[in-house]
Amino acid sequence: MTVSREFAYSIPKAELHLHLEGTLEPDLKLELAQKNGIDIGQTTVEEVQASYQFDSLTSFLAVYYPAMNVLQDEDDFYRLGAAYFARAKDNGVVRAECFFDPQAHTSRGIAIETVIRGYYRAIEEARAQGISADLILCFLRDMSAQSALETLQAALPYKDMFVGVGLDSDERDNPPQKFAECFALAKDNGLRVTMHCDIDQVGSIDNIRTALTELGTERLDHGTNIVEDPALVELVRERGIGLTCCPVSNSFVTDDMKGKEIVELLGKGVKVSVNSDDPAYFGGYVADNLLALAEKEGLNEAQIAQLARNSIEISWASDEEKAQMLASLEEFVASH
Ligand code: HPA
Ligand code: ZN
Repeated sequence: MTVSREFAYSIPKAELHLHLEGTLEPDLKLELAQKNGIDIGQTTVEEVQASYQFDSLTSFLAVYYPAMNVLQDEDDFYRLGAAYFARAKDNGVVRAECFFDPQAHTSRGIAIETVIRGYYRAIEEARAQGISADLILCFLRDMSAQSALETLQAALPYKDMFVGVGLDSDERDNPPQKFAECFALAKDNGLRVTMHCDIDQVGSIDNIRTALTELGTERLDHGTNIVEDPALVELVRERGIGLTCCPVSNSFVTDDMKGKEIVELLGKGVKVSVNSDDPAYFGGYVADNLLALAEKEGLNEAQIAQLARNSIEISWASDEEKAQMLASLEEFVASH
């Protein structure tokens, strides 16, 4: 192995592409199903694990959304978040910006307040334990623009509890411009903006260009298809736009982890970072993603350090926090 497990786990890093709903491990899913009296069709952890099977974004989402039925009250959302932060700590995460999908819960009758308050309790607890953390509210792009707008309006009374907005779910036939009004309102309210530009979508390049030039996205979640267009690579590099890449997830929903693209962009000075996306489903938290990429592409410690440095630089932590995190990163690198 090119990079040791200890190096990948211990290096201080930010995780910026992590769906809290994607951290629902089989044992917690089963426990919450039993607590809430919900029939999920499986009765053992092994059976739940075996149901986590997919080979595309669409087939993944078909397993992912129904699983959320087990989340019912504020404490359930808190427990999901707290379980993630325990893993994040083991993975050397010093800063976490966590996506959540309110519409996946409000559409089944859960109040948005329940979702936000539960997750936020886990955020506050993480902060108390020394992990800098924030929430990013995502809109489901396969629901209507009106629904996204209503979701944002319902969430605005809690806007001190999330740092920005994102866009996820099925990109097909749901380009970013569908949400232009919603993202403009988010910006008017001082929220940061990012969005998924999923791998190998129909119209990937056009969607990325629109996200950057018309919606003013500050990061691209995934986004490695920019390698197909040198002008876009240059735009992203020049503006310091961060890419939040997820190699293990990529290898499940496409035919490979897109490691060559990640390494090419890293070499060109684009601020690419490595993240875990939906780790309970894809079987790897952030350090495992770094290790998988290092092994596949033969990365050295300096390249892993650059990925970690990028993750902190493109994060939405305060300048003061970033300076502290970068200093501890450089100290770690110097001591290896
Ligand atoms: N893409 C789109 N939607 C998602 C993802 C993703 O990577 N993960 C969870 N929802
Ligand atoms: Zn994602």
